[in-house]
Amino acid sequence: MEKFTFAYPTKVYFGEGAAAEALKQELPKVGKTVMLAYGGGSLKKSGVYDELKKLLAEAGKEVVDFSGIMPNPTYAKVQEGAKLVKERHVDFILAAGGGSVIDCCKVISVQAMTEEDIWDMEYRSGSFPAAGVPMGAVVTASGTGAEMNAGAVITYEEKLWKDPIFGTAAAFAILDPAYTATVPPMQVLSGAFDTLSHAMETYLGKSDADNVSDDVALAIMRNTVVNMRRLLKNINDMQARGNLMWDSAMAENGILKVGRLTDFQAHQIEHQLGAYTDCNHGQGLAVIHPAYYRRILKDAEEKFTRFAKEVFGKDTAEEGLEALTAFIAECGLPTKLGQLKSKVEITPEVLRKVADTCNIIKCGPRELSRDEIYDILLECR
Ligand code: NZQ
Ligand code: ZN
Repeated sequence: MEKFTFAYPTKVYFGEGAAAEALKQELPKVGKTVMLAYGGGSLKKSGVYDELKKLLAEAGKEVVDFSGIMPNPTYAKVQEGAKLVKERHVDFILAAGGGSVIDCCKVISVQAMTEEDIWDMEYRSGSFPAAGVPMGAVVTASGTGAEMNAGAVITYEEKLWKDPIFGTAAAFAILDPAYTATVPPMQVLSGAFDTLSHAMETYLGKSDADNVSDDVALAIMRNTVVNMRRLLKNINDMQARGNLMWDSAMAENGILKVGRLTDFQAHQIEHQLGAYTDCNHGQGLAVIHPAYYRRILKDAEEKFTRFAKEVFGKDTAEEGLEALTAFIAECGLPTKLGQLKSKVEITPEVLRKVADTCNIIKCGPRELSRDEIYDILLECR
């Protein structure tokens, strides 16, 4: 095991009625003015908005609405939110949505507490914020696990950059599977594939043999595949949604990363692809993973063989990768870049820029060259 310190910053309320219970327990601990942050309209349509407003009113809170947080949240939206927090003297942020809303709020929280530009602080000065407005997260679409960590993935449009910015971790997270009932099927599956990707990317990083983090990661992968298959039979299987909701939190709450290094090269490629195209995160990963793994299969053959056996019941590394590729198609997820919804045409020139600007991981199975990343992306066309 690598050296580590580990702490959970987030208290989790899981299951039916979690919001009522959590807010009854947690709201008395926070100040009077609460910013309720959400996305583009699903929260109101599903009725969750009214439910949260009622609980906030019952707790005697003054509510400041902040709406319109888009998928792949932008740095400009972070600044808009931080300005509102300052102007309205917000004491607490309640982020209700998927990874995009939660991530945007994590960075709003820290940007609102400093006059320094947070991107400059983290990427130019290499320092990190010391304080943030406290926040809680209500998960309405699961997959990213954003509710249980402090890292946020933000798109800085002017810089054609999508990367992590560290912000505030939620003090509590509300995970009620019923809140995900209205998520469109493709988002449910792409979110779940993101979870699978997090566990695979962590597992493929450098680790000691026989460490427990690898074992837990494999269990999460297996469970994610089992429950995605249940959803393919019945997308409204709420027990499967609940299982996936906890898989999602477990895959990104840091527990799998304890005592080991991680890969996350597919994520780095997808994030920069997202910066250029604004594509859906889980769907982008579904396209990239098989091509990336074909490239590195021989560099981590033992791990891929174990993955094949324990996740897909196959004998060899190659069969495991074939099973993963077939599973992506079985889920109806995109398998080619041309199937992704993109704001620009995905030309070789765009892919060259993605390859030239994405982060390169040094602790995965093998450090890739930029030309190799470009080849992987061309293979995904
Ligand atoms: O905007 P609304 O109308 O709410 O619609 C959203 C959005 O269009 C919809 N949705 C959410 N809850 C719903 C619902 N629709 C109906 N009913 C509901 N209950 O779902 C759409 C996608 O939402 P989004 O939050 O963008 O999806 P996801 O949770 O997949 O988050 C993706 C973002 O998280 C980042 C990604 O890069 C991307 O920006 N990630 C964050 C991570 C983290 N912080 O740990 C790790 C991940 O690797 C990832 O990079
Ligand atoms: Zn992800």
